[in-house]
Amino acid sequence: MKHILKPRKTTFIFILLILSFSVNAQWNIPDYAKNTKLPTEPTYKLTETGKQLFIKNCIQCHGLPGEGKNNTAINAPDLGTADYQSKHNAGQFYYQFNEGMGFMPSFKDKLNKDDKWSITFYVKSFDKGFKITGEKIKAENCVIDFKTEDSARTLIATANIIDKNGISKPAEGVEINFFVKRIFGNLPIGETVITDQNGTAVFKFPDNIPGDENGKIKIIAKFKDSDAYGTAMKSAELNWGTHLHFVNPVLERTLWGPNNRVPLWLLLSFLIVTGSVWLTIFYVVFQITQIKKAGK
Ligand code: HEC
Repeated sequence: MKHILKPRKTTFIFILLILSFSVNAQWNIPDYAKNTKLPTEPTYKLTETGKQLFIKNCIQCHGLPGEGKNNTAINAPDLGTADYQSKHNAGQFYYQFNEGMGFMPSFKDKLNKDDKWSITFYVKSFDKGFKITGEKIKAENCVIDFKTEDSARTLIATANIIDKNGISKPAEGVEINFFVKRIFGNLPIGETVITDQNGTAVFKFPDNIPGDENGKIKIIAKFKDSDAYGTAMKSAELNWGTHLHFVNPVLERTLWGPNNRVPLWLLLSFLIVTGSVWLTIFYVVFQITQIKKAGK
């Protein structure tokens, strides 16, 4: 029995290997990274470019910063958290994704320097202390539009930016949310969609949104709040809602209904009660006249 309890040499080595592997799997960011000089001023324009590059290269593992949609199965962190941002400045961030580690691929040869800095500016824009300069794209210069494909019940949203010369160009990487208008505000429906390089995004309309009695529904498409794009929106009326079987309470026989719609039982008891009161009165009056007659 004794020899079973003794730790085997191979198990021991195996444990050591795992240990050393997990110790190795830590970011070793050299000091010089922290002092890296930014090659250009971070501008709103560059952060938008960076966002589009982030969507192409990083979103599948990290999700958009600050949204918590990161892939936890492979331990890819959300890069927008205050914790991450406070511990990594632009240079350190650049170093990390340039080098890579473990499941985190290296982007040394995959992207050029300008693109990597744009991504850095975009991710660092989630740090309140990181200053971004330049002109913001004004909300009134953004246009959102959508057309409908009835057969597939899809909405095709297009986002455009009008530049200084009045020329409209497709806005890529813009997040669009859809809402249904309700009495007490706008109800968000479905997932956020992101526009492609043609500025279009396809949204599949859910089947179970209640409309009015004709299935009519008011849809609103809106840019997700974004520093650069403002909050352009567009609305339209569609008849894709489920039909509401609406019973007009005024036309029902109810206690609170109008005179001609009272419940039958109430009408009947009312007639019987008032009828018997009137009958009693007539009877009394009749009796009095009889007494008078008898007294003559
Ligand atoms: C295939 C999935 C994948 C892709 C694509 C990817 N990453 Fe990562 N990334 C990871 C994983 C996994 C980690 C965690 C590595 C670790 O700490 O072991 C990580 C870590 C990081 C870190 C370090 C985070 C920390 O906590 O210190 C940064 C910075 C980073 N990624 C940036 C990026 C950027 C920028 C892109 C796109 C240009 C990108 N990543 C693309 C999987 C990915």
